[in-house]
Amino acid sequence: MATVVVVGSQWGDEGKGKITDMISKKADLVVRYQGGNNAGHTVVVGEREFKLHLIPSGILYPDVSCVIANGVVVDPAVLKEEMDYLLDRGVEIKDFHISNQAHVIMPYHRVLDQAEEARKNDGKIGTTGKGIGPVYMDKIGRFGIRMGDLLDKELLREKLESILSLKNMILDKVYGAETFDIDELWTEYLEYGQKLAPFITDTSYLVNEALAKGKNVLFEGAQGTLLDIDHGTYPYVTSSNPTAGGVCTGVGVGPTKIDSVLGVVKAYTTRVGEGPFPTELTGEQGEWLREKGGEFGTTTGRPRRCGWFDATIVKYARRINGLTSIAVTKLDVLDGMEKIKMCTSYKYQGEVLTEFPVNQQVLAECEPIYEEFAGWEENTSQIREYENLPENAKLYLDRLSELVDCKVSILSVGPKRSETMVLDKFIE
Ligand code: GDP
Ligand code: IMO
Ligand code: MG
Repeated sequence: MATVVVVGSQWGDEGKGKITDMISKKADLVVRYQGGNNAGHTVVVGEREFKLHLIPSGILYPDVSCVIANGVVVDPAVLKEEMDYLLDRGVEIKDFHISNQAHVIMPYHRVLDQAEEARKNDGKIGTTGKGIGPVYMDKIGRFGIRMGDLLDKELLREKLESILSLKNMILDKVYGAETFDIDELWTEYLEYGQKLAPFITDTSYLVNEALAKGKNVLFEGAQGTLLDIDHGTYPYVTSSNPTAGGVCTGVGVGPTKIDSVLGVVKAYTTRVGEGPFPTELTGEQGEWLREKGGEFGTTTGRPRRCGWFDATIVKYARRINGLTSIAVTKLDVLDGMEKIKMCTSYKYQGEVLTEFPVNQQVLAECEPIYEEFAGWEENTSQIREYENLPENAKLYLDRLSELVDCKVSILSVGPKRSETMVLDKFIE
């Protein structure tokens, strides 16, 4: 048996979609364990680009079983759209399963998410506006609607009656926003239930059965370590646990079942949304990285904030996730830079911090301490062997691996499947 968790090691958008797709060819099951359609995972196959938000990136392999587990929050309207998008492009959706315990994003969650961001104004988080925070609040508050509830007409009505009266009151009285009609919602969501019924099941049972048979299972993380509700840069985080521990609760598998944790690491740093970002480049160099790296949100189209690689962040991700190795992506984006900087530690009130400070007030005051590297002119996206990389690129990667204290097992030099080097084994 081999199981691997693919986890984002920075603030998301590290290239998890590409790495998941690449490993999926060896997997029997690919499982999403948290988050929702706030995620945007890009997979490039030949000349075609697929943007996935909810359906696991393993879907492009016809023999791989794909699972949306209980820790994920599902917007059925978005899911239907994504299924149609794939079907239109000739991708079959046959071995696909959705947990009956996954919580449902309702339209009032989306409205509440956006209304709360507008209310906070300057203090906003910069959410994707997809209803993620509000749906997880209902889950923890114990009055959420789950995918299984969409299959039970009477239960759904009962739940909506109790929930909607409160939501409408909040929407109207607190935010002055539109309210929702119970009959319309009931009819619409029962219809989704009917359409999705063939896929809704007990996915914890399904995944554990597969594990018992020695199948290869890949757990695909969304977002990243610094967006984790517990371990991220709170409050500028998402509302789930993208970190490796989230797999156990988000799928219903025991920690003893996880063999490897592969951290996906961008060769520089990006962030979407608000919050401190010590190595951010706000001038020309940041613009250069954004343009060359195509750093615009897959879900919202927002320009991503760009900056130098920060080793303290990835070292922290190694600790929190128990990373067994890392996949470094987008090295090619650095091609042609004259000088490249890497943050090794921070200066905070005259002291040197070598560990990432989780406290936001501290992080906001941290000044990065850099090592500077000479760049390289060569186009690395053509290279398929580590030995053939420019010497300066090797020096950069070796130092990155040393500072993070983790081996690099995959190196990605372009968005395509072929633009990848496997340097070491990444599955135990
Ligand atoms: P995810 O959310 O972690 O799956 O990442 P996104 O898909 O949001 O963003 C990563 C972007 O970088 C996508 O457009 C990918 O196609 C692209 N990408 C992935 N790996 C590489 C790489 O090694 N080089 C380049 N140039 N682009 C890459
Ligand atoms: P993938 O899986 C990058 C960010 C948002 C915002 C914060 C909270 O593609 O890496 P939310 O809508 O989740 O309440 O927003 O989290 N965010 C992401 N940033 N990549 C993502 O997903 C993200 N999903 C959420 O920008 O700062
Ligand atoms: Mg993304």
